[in-house]
Amino acid sequence: MDSRRTIAPEELDTLDLAEPRLHAESDLSAVWRHLREHDPVHWNPQTGSAPGFWVVTRHADVTAVYRDSARFTSEGGNVLETLLAGGDSAAGRMLAITDGARHTGLRRVLMSAFTPRALEPIVDSVRRSVRRLLRDAIEQGTCDFATDVAAGIPLGAICDLLGVPDGDRAEVLRLTSSALGSHDADSTAADAWIAKSEILLYFAQLARERRAGGHADVIALLAGSRVNGLPLDDDEIMLNCYSLILGGDETARLSMVGAALALVDHPDQWRALKRGETGIDTAVEEMLRWTTPALHSGRTATTDTEIRGRPVRAGDVVTVWNASANRDERVFDEPGRLRLDRSPNKHVTFAYGRHFCLGAYLARAEIGAVLAGLRDTVAELELTGPARPVYSNFLSGLSSLPLALKGE
Ligand code: HEM
Repeated sequence: MDSRRTIAPEELDTLDLAEPRLHAESDLSAVWRHLREHDPVHWNPQTGSAPGFWVVTRHADVTAVYRDSARFTSEGGNVLETLLAGGDSAAGRMLAITDGARHTGLRRVLMSAFTPRALEPIVDSVRRSVRRLLRDAIEQGTCDFATDVAAGIPLGAICDLLGVPDGDRAEVLRLTSSALGSHDADSTAADAWIAKSEILLYFAQLARERRAGGHADVIALLAGSRVNGLPLDDDEIMLNCYSLILGGDETARLSMVGAALALVDHPDQWRALKRGETGIDTAVEEMLRWTTPALHSGRTATTDTEIRGRPVRAGDVVTVWNASANRDERVFDEPGRLRLDRSPNKHVTFAYGRHFCLGAYLARAEIGAVLAGLRDTVAELELTGPARPVYSNFLSGLSSLPLALKGE
């Protein structure tokens, strides 16, 4: 049920695509379609003191920018918020905003914790948590699917990976939401900044504890590894823990919540899932495309260049919009329709190229566990109140989804 205001392409001149409220409260699909067709590399003009930026909307151009980290670096920041503020102080130290040999070395270290084999116990625990959370929600009759079911799943998995003690997890969840998601229209940048600082301090403390040995988690892995011959310092460890929690918690949560709403809104697809007419793996891919929790990624041009004939100058901010690329009619048949059996499904929800999401396997397993859990234990899902959006120009989805779940 989409109650958002539809924005017409004629309004484009009045829009600022960096405005969180625009993404939260309106349906931009007609605007994206118009841009893909008529202005695929669009210039979003300067507003106030924030510089203008390029808006790349076609799938082919989005993947071309992702592929070319020499021409389009992540080291100036990889989301509008930091790019427009003039950069990210973690550049060159945090995986997502590091390029070149350092990125390759750091990614190699972290990858070893993200292989299907290494993740097996974590995925098992995700499946158990999902069943337990759904059982509780069914027993209660009604729930907020966002806060009562989805909230605990990805964060629990990341906390398992990082070895965060149980007693600290609720606080870590609160800080994570406030640092990245801005759950209501009134949250301020200062609230987010304070939450981010608190998370960083918390992980710095865990990093110090891990140096003493006796742990087998990702923090201990980072503390015991060398990247290009040198050990990581506490700051680097803390920043990369932060990046896992901020990159992997809310994104996955939003796709689960969006998936539940999609099943309510598309009873034919819900029935197809229930009857086993569509497999969980293909359904997961379509839910990832449908929900696209990370709306955009950002880069900085390293040299004077061009994208689809538009001149881009060295230093320009270039944003690629996954939300638009995932609806590109040049790549997807009937892109505006949810088809859980869609195959192939070349969505860019996890980006593309060197910075392709490190947690993609884990995220897929989490969403798969939720879809399988709903299929096997829930007979009917019904919306019982208004859903509430997150306010962000980077994250898209719902912070609240009141549902009634009836058991089998
Ligand atoms: C549905 C859930 C998820 C979505 C939509 C998502 C999306 C993305 C995207 C778009 C990027 C690329 C950013 C860029 O190119 O600038 C990325 C990178 C990354 N993601 Fe995810 N992600 C998800 C889940 C996770 C999880 C579960 C984790 C870890 C627990 C994670 C950790 C990371 C990391 C560390 C990177 C940086 C990789 C690199 O730069 O080499 N993500 N993710």
